[in-house]
Amino acid sequence: EKGGYEHFMLKEIYEQPRAIHDSFRGRLNAKEGWVSLGGVKPYIKEIANADRIVIIACGTSWHAALVAEYYFEDLARIPVEVEYASEFRYRNPIIRKGDVVIAISQSGETADTLAALKMAKENGAFLFGIVNVVGSSISRITDSGSYTHAGPEIGVASTKAFTTQVTLLAMMAMMLGKERNTIAPKRFQKLLDEMEALPDKIETLLESNDYIETIAAQYKDATNALYLGRGTAFPIALEGALKLKEISYIHAEGYPAAEMKHGPIALIDENMPVFVIATEGENYEKVVSNIQEVKARKGKIIAIVTKGDTEVKAIADHTISIPSTDEVLVPILATIPFQLLSYHIAVMRGCNVDQPRNLAKSVTVE
Ligand code: M6R
Repeated sequence: EKGGYEHFMLKEIYEQPRAIHDSFRGRLNAKEGWVSLGGVKPYIKEIANADRIVIIACGTSWHAALVAEYYFEDLARIPVEVEYASEFRYRNPIIRKGDVVIAISQSGETADTLAALKMAKENGAFLFGIVNVVGSSISRITDSGSYTHAGPEIGVASTKAFTTQVTLLAMMAMMLGKERNTIAPKRFQKLLDEMEALPDKIETLLESNDYIETIAAQYKDATNALYLGRGTAFPIALEGALKLKEISYIHAEGYPAAEMKHGPIALIDENMPVFVIATEGENYEKVVSNIQEVKARKGKIIAIVTKGDTEVKAIADHTISIPSTDEVLVPILATIPFQLLSYHIAVMRGCNVDQPRNLAKSVTVE
């Protein structure tokens, strides 16, 4: 049932081209120039005119929520708040009619997310679910929703569930942007084209697996690691760090790259691997400076760059290239090398990759 793969996690990483294709199939068409999610369509006015969108989730799904915050604000100009479900529900939050609450959950059974939704419902919010497991509790309690269609995810470490969540959230933001006229038609079309090109780009990226394994071999004995990114790559840094800690038991922290100088830089020495997302786009030069700061303190840089990059290549210890795409979709591609790095490091350390100690696939207790 692992389809020839040694672990479910690896199988699920490799399923991503198909999973992402399944998550947009029938929901967008670049040639005809449209995107439409069945769960959003009947409520498009309600969601597009929300006073604000509150997104609640836990763990990896919370990282997808952080990416979505950029999407909804940038493409649809709707104010967004992202909350850990567990914090949200216990702090007497302000929820009003006119708020749209989106819950993101692979399992659809996470106790804190479910309880937070119940509370939001009592306060009159409109509830929308982005869920993988069909018929799960969260899919039933929400007013509407869209399934990610990632297929069953068995490995405790979330991989394809995350990238399909981000895919879906990008589509939702595009729909809302179109409705609100906040997205330029050219940009909209480019996003559609790039979305359809994603599965092939992921296939290309997966060809780097053996090379990524050789990098993993060099850092498998690290005791600490830092992950840095800016903009939508910041949540990817958090996700990279979570993936490493949960399956390899190496302590790892994700930070917005600019925050490094406010503390974490003190940790950097020749034993510290620093994983950086340094892809083309608005933040590129700033990230290059952050890399220089790490190198000046002898830290090891493993950078994710856009294919064809030369500047970072010249200063980093290792670079992993991803195909060029619209900046909005970079998080989907950039997260995959981190999944593979964590996977190989965990295997080399003899860890139980699919069922790490102390963890359950779905956290149904509070
Ligand atoms: O099923 P959910 O998406 O609600 O689960 C949320 C978290 O428990 C989950 O993402 C967890 O952090 C994973 N182990 C991360 O890989």
